[in-house]
Amino acid sequence: MFVQTSYFRCTLILILSFCYVHSARILGVFQYPSISHQVVFQQIWRELSLRGHDVVVVTPNPLNDPKLVNLTEIDVGSIKNLISAGDDLQSSMSKDSPTPQIMKAFYDTSLVLQDAIFKDKQFNAIYNNSKEKFDLVMVESHHPGMYSLAGRFDCPSIGISSLGVVIPIHGSVGNTNHPVLYPDMNLPVHSNLNVFQKIYSIYNSIFLNIYYDNWVMKQSDEIARKYLGNDIPYLGDLANNVSFLLINTNHIIHTIRPHVPKIIQMGQMHIRKPKPLPTELKTLLDNAKNGVIYFSLGSNVKSVNIDKNLQKIFLETMADLPYTVLWKWEADALENKPNNVITRKWFPQQDLLAHPNVKAFVTQGGLQSIEEAISREVPMVGLPFIGDQPMTLNKLSQAGVALVHDPVTVTKEELKSSIIKVATDPSFRRNIHKAKIELEDQPETGLERAVWWIEYAIRHKGAPHLKSPTADVKWWEFIFLDVILVLSLAMFIFLRLAKFLYNILSFIPKEKQY
Ligand SMILES: *[C@@H]1O[C@H](CO)[C@@H](O)[C@H](O)[C@H]1NC(C)=O
Ligand SMILES: *[C@@H]1O[C@H](CO)[C@@H](O)[C@H](O)[C@H]1NC(C)=O
Ligand SMILES: *[C@@H]1O[C@H](CO)[C@@H](O)[C@H](O)[C@H]1NC(C)=O
Repeated sequence: MFVQTSYFRCTLILILSFCYVHSARILGVFQYPSISHQVVFQQIWRELSLRGHDVVVVTPNPLNDPKLVNLTEIDVGSIKNLISAGDDLQSSMSKDSPTPQIMKAFYDTSLVLQDAIFKDKQFNAIYNNSKEKFDLVMVESHHPGMYSLAGRFDCPSIGISSLGVVIPIHGSVGNTNHPVLYPDMNLPVHSNLNVFQKIYSIYNSIFLNIYYDNWVMKQSDEIARKYLGNDIPYLGDLANNVSFLLINTNHIIHTIRPHVPKIIQMGQMHIRKPKPLPTELKTLLDNAKNGVIYFSLGSNVKSVNIDKNLQKIFLETMADLPYTVLWKWEADALENKPNNVITRKWFPQQDLLAHPNVKAFVTQGGLQSIEEAISREVPMVGLPFIGDQPMTLNKLSQAGVALVHDPVTVTKEELKSSIIKVATDPSFRRNIHKAKIELEDQPETGLERAVWWIEYAIRHKGAPHLKSPTADVKWWEFIFLDVILVLSLAMFIFLRLAKFLYNILSFIPKEKQY
């Protein structure tokens, strides 16, 4: 009887919470026009709409799938021109620039994109309509400006990143930010820093925090107010009030670091079962009896954009390899193309890497490419260019699944010998197989986890009860400045007192002599 009642109660609660979640109306704004980022967010908004939520998404890369009847996509694809107009961002984000310079270039672009998206007519019709209501706002966490929408609609927010997040964003939810133990994602080293790396990491961390809180937030807040009016809370407070940060990191590819409960690690969001290759490509791979090297620098770096000298090194290396080389070369023609090299502007990368004849993957080390390589068990030769690429490749090389070279200094001989080593030495295959099974041994998929916590935020109207007290710790408390000050004061008083007593004591015998 008791069992039955509680069973009934449970079922009722389940149905009620299910119904409640069902009615949720969700707004997502994903502003960065790069498909390798958007492909992560796409999975989330597709899944939420399939679960019956009413989802409105602003994105430069809509799915345009007529089967998704509960999804409204506002296409802001035109903002792509704001980036590719100059490849300045690319060169200014090079890993050889100082991190502060990289961050400045990144956030300058972020603000331009934020403004352009607010200007969009279709989006304006939504945020400027006083009758519109949302239960949750999803924001790309690297671009905090859109947290303003949580203020506009007075609802909880979720921040999502297609990679890790920078130090100030970790700090916003109270993650410990010890710069020597957990360097920023854009620094090339993740552990065992030498003393110069420690000094640089501390400097970088202080710069980032000050710059982010006092410049990025203020500028973004001003832009938001231009469009949403002055009735919203300060953007910095809205960003710090995020319910969950869904980040795309894991313990195999990334630095291991402690996380507060508001951090949810997703992972392998865009990985799916391999699809059959187009016939012509399949034949080509089947016939490549010596094996295939797949060469791609991803959708942001792009082989056509890199230094001519490096292109020449690539070509000479490829010509010298005893393999067929498939090169993602984003132009129609390629001068002096060796006979064993086949170029395409685009390859179905996930499916291609699943072909058994692919021996090695030469990559810039973008996170989505690395996830694909691990999933398909193809060891890598890494040439990191920007952002998190140096750090992740550094970790993978320690795990014995990749050999890494600096694209600025790499020579033809080094590149050739690394490619041959990765393609022939069985230890790389063994290690990447191990990395794959360790990575995939999880209670649920990254997408299931992401959607669970998004619906959790809807069910509980945010997650203020999960806020870590560390989120409110001031920097001077973090480095014990208050404690040091009190102890110094106590020491000072003690010393003065001791001196005073000493003076009195030495005064007494003098009196006697007198
Ligand atoms: C659309 O949402 C409704 C409930 O709101 C749900 O029953 C239906 O399955 C959803 N359809 C699709 C195709 O996602
Ligand atoms: C928002 O709507 C109001 C009228 O409802 C209008 O006066 C205002 O110009 C609109 N703002 C923008 C940015 O479109
Ligand atoms: C923070 O979020 C909670 C729940 O989402 C909300 O009730 C509260 O008003 C928010 N506070 C601020 C300052 O935005």
